[in-house]
Amino acid sequence: MNNTQLHIQANTFSLKRFPNNPFDKSLRAWDAADEYIIDHVADTINLIELAHIVIVNDSFGALTCAMAKLSPQANISVYTDSYMSMRAIAQNLKGSNLDKNNVTMHSSLMLSELAGKSVDLVLLKVPRTLSYLDYLLFTLSQTLGTASNTGQSPIVIGGAMVKLVTSSVMNIFNAHMGNTTTSLARKKARLIFAECAVKTDNGGNVAQTLSLNPHCIHEVQDKEIDLTLHNYPNVFCRDQVDIGARYMLKVLPSITRANQVVIDLGCGNGILGTSLLLQNAANAPKMIYIDESFMAIESAKVSLNNSTVDERLKARAEFLVGHCLDEFINHSEDSSGNLKGVDLILCNPPFHQQNTIIDDIAWQMFTDAKKALKVGGELRIVGNRHLDHRAKLKKLFGACEIIASDAKFVVLSAIKQRARA
Ligand SMILES: C[S@@+](CC[C@H](N)C(=O)[O-])C[C@H]1O[C@@H](n2cnc3c(N)ncnc32)[C@H](O)[C@@H]1O
Repeated sequence: MNNTQLHIQANTFSLKRFPNNPFDKSLRAWDAADEYIIDHVADTINLIELAHIVIVNDSFGALTCAMAKLSPQANISVYTDSYMSMRAIAQNLKGSNLDKNNVTMHSSLMLSELAGKSVDLVLLKVPRTLSYLDYLLFTLSQTLGTASNTGQSPIVIGGAMVKLVTSSVMNIFNAHMGNTTTSLARKKARLIFAECAVKTDNGGNVAQTLSLNPHCIHEVQDKEIDLTLHNYPNVFCRDQVDIGARYMLKVLPSITRANQVVIDLGCGNGILGTSLLLQNAANAPKMIYIDESFMAIESAKVSLNNSTVDERLKARAEFLVGHCLDEFINHSEDSSGNLKGVDLILCNPPFHQQNTIIDDIAWQMFTDAKKALKVGGELRIVGNRHLDHRAKLKKLFGACEIIASDAKFVVLSAIKQRARA
């Protein structure tokens, strides 16, 4: 079986995941739900007549590539929370020789900009996180149909593997979209058909409604931490403090010198970085928050801005959306490829991508961290014991110290050594 060639509707698309692991050929860049959506729309809708297709939460570009091929006259607006999905979609459009000029990609935080625009078809890959689905459908229900050329409601088709199409998912669809039905299952995937009623007004001030809406920011207060977290719907651990992060907070390093630079890598809501700033007010460093989720970066920004951190430090903080440290390294290297390294990197690394459990991303984060640190700089991480990050760090850095450990978690520290001559 060729795991990079999707043959569908008399076309072949060359699709790879991003990042692509050439050693793991078992992971495909599409699933049976993508195939079901593509076959259904190609068989039932006159795709050649559509002017504007909206694709939400496409994983690696199967839906975007198929629509770009089957509906070449349409403008395609892609909304996702994932920088890695954007990279995958761009890579796969190119790999399948498709014109990307009619495809635009946006953070799903910008979904409300659809207000007042004509949309013919919405394809939605149902996300695993219910609060994110709630946000997406609420926002679509407030915006879609506000200025349809045809006066018709746009067609909304969701798709997911059967195990994700739970009664909670259907309740959310029904609550926001009105009457919702499902297809029969095919290859363990199911489609969801929704009606999005056309609004008779022009949507009013949708952006303002959304900024106030209960589906957006969720505040988490925790008696053990001195920080209110402002969590957007798709941020990691939206409803409570992650137990790994909680463990790491007990052993955050002390900053003993002024003018240090620290990265909170895979920052989520910025709990590690912002707590470090609060615990080290005297020598508080410049903090750089990095995540591949747009909602994580917004959560980190809002949480920092609402914290008691000194206003000057807030103004110095930087926020970057990127894959591991690639964007940071690209922006920080001078023309000769030299990098002004950072002093400390804090990381609670991810252990899955989309629905797959992998440790490739953690590896990439550790490798990038070694590049981005100055000599003597420290990478401090927390992880589940069974993931054996210690072996990885020892291999990369030469040594790795256990700072704390219990039955479940371990906090590790690796120091960048001077390269041997
Ligand atoms: C285990 S969570 C930790 C979040 C937060 N630091 C905490 O401790 O609660 C891992 C974070 O890594 C982010 N992430 C996943 N893949 C990434 C990548 N390739 N580059 C940057 N961040 C990534 C996820 O979005 C998530 O916010």
